[in-house]
Amino acid sequence: MKIILAAGARPNFMKVAPILEALEARRRAGRPVEPRLVHTGQHYDRRMSEEFFADLGLPAPDRNLGVGSGSHAQQTARVMVAFEEVCLEERPDWVVVVGDVNSTLACALAAKKLGLRLAHVEAGLRSRDMSMPEEINRLCTDAIADLLFTTDRIASENLRREGVEEARIRLVGNTMIDSLYRHLPRARSLPLPEGLEAGRYAVLTLHRPGNVDDPPRLLGILAAVSDLARRLPVIFPAHPRTRAHLDRLGWRPQPQLDGRLRLTEPLSYLPFLGLVARARLVLTDSGGLQEETTVLGVPCLTLRETTERPITCQIGTNILVGSAPERIRAAAWSVLENGRRPAAVPEHWDGRAGERIAACLLEQASG
Ligand code: UD1
Repeated sequence: MKIILAAGARPNFMKVAPILEALEARRRAGRPVEPRLVHTGQHYDRRMSEEFFADLGLPAPDRNLGVGSGSHAQQTARVMVAFEEVCLEERPDWVVVVGDVNSTLACALAAKKLGLRLAHVEAGLRSRDMSMPEEINRLCTDAIADLLFTTDRIASENLRREGVEEARIRLVGNTMIDSLYRHLPRARSLPLPEGLEAGRYAVLTLHRPGNVDDPPRLLGILAAVSDLARRLPVIFPAHPRTRAHLDRLGWRPQPQLDGRLRLTEPLSYLPFLGLVARARLVLTDSGGLQEETTVLGVPCLTLRETTERPITCQIGTNILVGSAPERIRAAAWSVLENGRRPAAVPEHWDGRAGERIAACLLEQASG
């Protein structure tokens, strides 16, 4: 049974790693399974790709399609053309796509149109915000996948409400959290960046087009974060897209903050996980970070109006704040004054999701 795992962008790599590992373990044990890892090359900077492979212990991909950046249509189309060729050569029994990036949808479309069986990991998440490219990617991928692996009961319920038949839905948990559990001890043992003390700093990440492509909105968020930095040092590893906008605007942290707001290059997986695990507070517009902070018990302010991961607000540490500066300030003050809320971890986020997915795929072969 040949299984192609497709990944393309930074948040995909920690999601495929546990599945590949679980399939490899079965192969070594003599089960008839041949996993293949295909990297589309959507993310290509060393810090956005290679360093993640090294930190996660992922082998070099069997194929790298090298598609790079472009408009949505260009990027999606390039992945489709290149991935179709790989599928024609390899003739896999299953194609597994993860997450919601352009590579996810492109590989899904190419595979399904060749009549291949398709599984989507992290299915059923819905922000109901069609201005997010990821929402379009999620909806379209889920519509055509044969197997829909969900992370939580809300995602499974979303699919049922859309009329998806029960046999296609499998609640397996969260492979990104598998990777977190596996690497947390090593991540925590790494030294913090010079001058930061555990529990006494905040982490900021921003990369959503809605926040960073709109100068007044980006500058408003950074004004609120600058105010926070007067009370609590903030470290800001900036995505290349965000960095390009900041350079264009000539934005740099105010000198009077005296290094308390620190702009850095993107960090690779382990240093970043170590940084988040020991933070007092995280401010972000990322999707995955809402889940990671919930498991780590670190308060998270999500700088968006909607989330496709509502479970992290219902039982976890996440608070949906939006991007208005006064709301960011109020939420940050409230966390600093009131401390942590009691939080729980969603069921099945137990480090075994990759195992469940591998078992399910192999069951399909024998069934
Ligand atoms: C993509 C995903 C987003 C995910 C994010 C995580 C889509 C639609 N978006 O957004 O869901 O949260 O990855 O990082 O798939 N760039 C580089 N080097 C790189 C990659 C990108 O410099 O290695 C720059 C390029 O200028 C590029 C821009 O970032 O044009 C955007 O990259 P792209 O892959 O289109 O989307 P992301 O913003 O990274």
